[in-house]
Amino acid sequence: MAGKHGKFITLEGMDGAGKSTHIPNIVDQVKAQVDEVICTREPGGTPVAEEMRELLLHRDMHPETETLLMFAARREHIAEVIAPALARGAYVISDRFTDATYAYQAGAKQVAVDKIAALEKWVQGPLQPDATLLFDVPVEVSLTRLAAARMPDKFEREGTAFFEKLRNAYLQRAKADPARFHIIDASRALDDVRKEVKVIIENILLSY
Ligand code: TYD
Repeated sequence: MAGKHGKFITLEGMDGAGKSTHIPNIVDQVKAQVDEVICTREPGGTPVAEEMRELLLHRDMHPETETLLMFAARREHIAEVIAPALARGAYVISDRFTDATYAYQAGAKQVAVDKIAALEKWVQGPLQPDATLLFDVPVEVSLTRLAAARMPDKFEREGTAFFEKLRNAYLQRAKADPARFHIIDASRALDDVRKEVKVIIENILLSY
């Protein structure tokens, strides 16, 4: 029965892919079957990490500084929120996690993958998401959606080349770990995406 074992689910995708739209439904669906569900986000998720988020999203910095700060925020997030929740048997749903660092900092900003892998090992130990939903859209769709949205943060102001690298990096990671990743074609009508997400979450709940 779901609820007895903590599970870690992460949501990923380029800005503008629409993942934020689906989070409330996902959380409601899991809550209907699981005693305790924590909904959180990265960078952020604790007061200290949320302060780091402000810097990360609004201040320009060297890509390696950005990577180190992402992992500093992540260390805090794991220690304060994720690890204790999983230990209690809760489900943790995080809007982004380390796949975002591989996609944004390595894929799009060329930080060396082995440096990120070393930080991942240090900060996470064996902790990995049990399942990751990747909301995938073609770059033009993402850029069009962002142009219609609120004030962009630093990442959302990047151009087509950045977004192409980002998308490819995410898809490569998904391909390398098909057991963990669920790739969702998020360019379709919202209702179709919603239905697919529902089935994926149902299967994740059933599989534990
Ligand atoms: P995002 O998740 O898009 O939140 P919102 O929908 O509220 O804008 O914002 C987080 C940004 O941080 C996003 O542009 C991706 C970036 N990011 C990284 O570059 N590396 C990371 O490791 C993480 C977690 C996020």
